[in-house]
Amino acid sequence: MKITYYSHDVFLLEHDGTKLIIDPFLTGNENAPIKAEDVKVDYVLLTHAHPDHLGDGVVLAIKNDATIIAPFEVTLICQSLGAQKTHAMHIGGAHNFDFGRVKLTIAHHGSAWIDDKGVHYGGNPCGLLITMGGKTVYHAGDTGLFMDMQLIGEMNSIDVALLPIGDNFTMGIDDAVKAVEFLNPALSIPMHYDTFPVIEADPKEFTAKVEAVRQKARVMQYGETIEI
Ligand code: NI
Ligand code: MN
Repeated sequence: MKITYYSHDVFLLEHDGTKLIIDPFLTGNENAPIKAEDVKVDYVLLTHAHPDHLGDGVVLAIKNDATIIAPFEVTLICQSLGAQKTHAMHIGGAHNFDFGRVKLTIAHHGSAWIDDKGVHYGGNPCGLLITMGGKTVYHAGDTGLFMDMQLIGEMNSIDVALLPIGDNFTMGIDDAVKAVEFLNPALSIPMHYDTFPVIEADPKEFTAKVEAVRQKARVMQYGETIEI
């Protein structure tokens, strides 16, 4: 599987010709190295409806004839914004797609879309366990630390954990390091930092602290691709 990082929580996962994008916040994201119009994808996965996650999701889905996979309430928002192809799921549920398996996990956070018509309720936010090409990626979404991460780590062999470190809205660095200990992934990658002043964080501090607990972490540059 190939993983490309586009800053914030935006990751492109690719295997066997299928491309999934997670939380595509590109327009209005100064750290994003690409523009929404340059993205080609088959699926758009959304952890919650906050504008820095749903982002360009509907535009990308329409332009690429891609399917949106998201919690039920988020798919309703996407439909109201014009999305035709959606697959609703909810926390604890998994589904086998043509590319692999997706399971929604809990995330302690909120979920609403805000536009000129007001605030649209997005239900419960989620994290994503994505298994494709024999590899499992855990995208925690926006969340605080929670004890059930231990259970997620126990029940899944996680190859890569994508964890927020920016604090204020999500886990900060020290809680994210504890999350790594709970999840026990082969590799951890920090996300959700430096996009706005209030979530500035040093990803190198995260990787150093993860290594201090004898786990592996690395910082991905904006636009960088790794193969796992
Ligand atoms: Ni959020
Ligand atoms: Mn966020």
